[in-house]
Amino acid sequence: MKSIREFSTARAEARPIVMATAYDALMARLAAEADIDALLVGDSVAMVVHGFPSTVHATLEMMCAHTAAVRRGAPDLVVVADLPFLAHRRGKTAATDAAGALLQAGATAVKLEGVAGHEDAIEHLVGSGIPVMGHLGLTPQSVNLIGGYRLQGRSIDEAEKIRRDAARLAELGAFSLVLECVPAELARTITSELAVPTIGIGAGVETAGQILVLTDLLGLDAKFRPKFARRYLDGAGLVRGALRAYAEDVRRAGFPAAEEILA
Ligand code: KIV
Repeated sequence: MKSIREFSTARAEARPIVMATAYDALMARLAAEADIDALLVGDSVAMVVHGFPSTVHATLEMMCAHTAAVRRGAPDLVVVADLPFLAHRRGKTAATDAAGALLQAGATAVKLEGVAGHEDAIEHLVGSGIPVMGHLGLTPQSVNLIGGYRLQGRSIDEAEKIRRDAARLAELGAFSLVLECVPAELARTITSELAVPTIGIGAGVETAGQILVLTDLLGLDAKFRPKFARRYLDGAGLVRGALRAYAEDVRRAGFPAAEEILA
């Protein structure tokens, strides 16, 4: 997809929207070549690339650098970038400054978690011409409040709140929203109620699209295996095997071979 308008076209034509996270130019290029519809430079970068324990550690500087790299790798794709922790909670000006920096780094749109308490920032961003994607359900920037990464919206009250927040996000002008770790039935209800497409992660099959964290779908972290994420590759095993083979070759003077020596 080249523009966010294609999100609504896909929804209208019942074509599932395929998203994955990306953090660097090479993976972004491969994702574009593999026909992924749109990329998210998720604040999960703080965890999967920088090794921090949560997304709270993502900074604007970090998000801008990875967004610029992804844009260089996938010049024609929609690239959504996460507003980092608290960027949209410090008022309209701070939200606009952060979103502006991400767009100047190459993002097409920004994603932000939650609604309550920053409705004015969302409205101001959209009014300033910055496409906003929402994110409800499990919102990892609130992990310290939630107390862990677990299914959200299980009780009637919780489910109703997520439903109301989804409607509010659409009213405020969000072009799409991520539903993370919510019961499939709730995701189906919200998807059917909203005009804007929902993108699910751990939210069943009846959202308008799906997103997976790249390292989860490539199986690059053997120690982390969320139940909802399908592994399409044993990335960790393959990379480890290749590195081991290289180390063995060097140790037995098997690398470089004659044809690999510059004459
Ligand atoms: O940061 C991220 O990777 C995300 C996805 C889980 C949707 O927000």
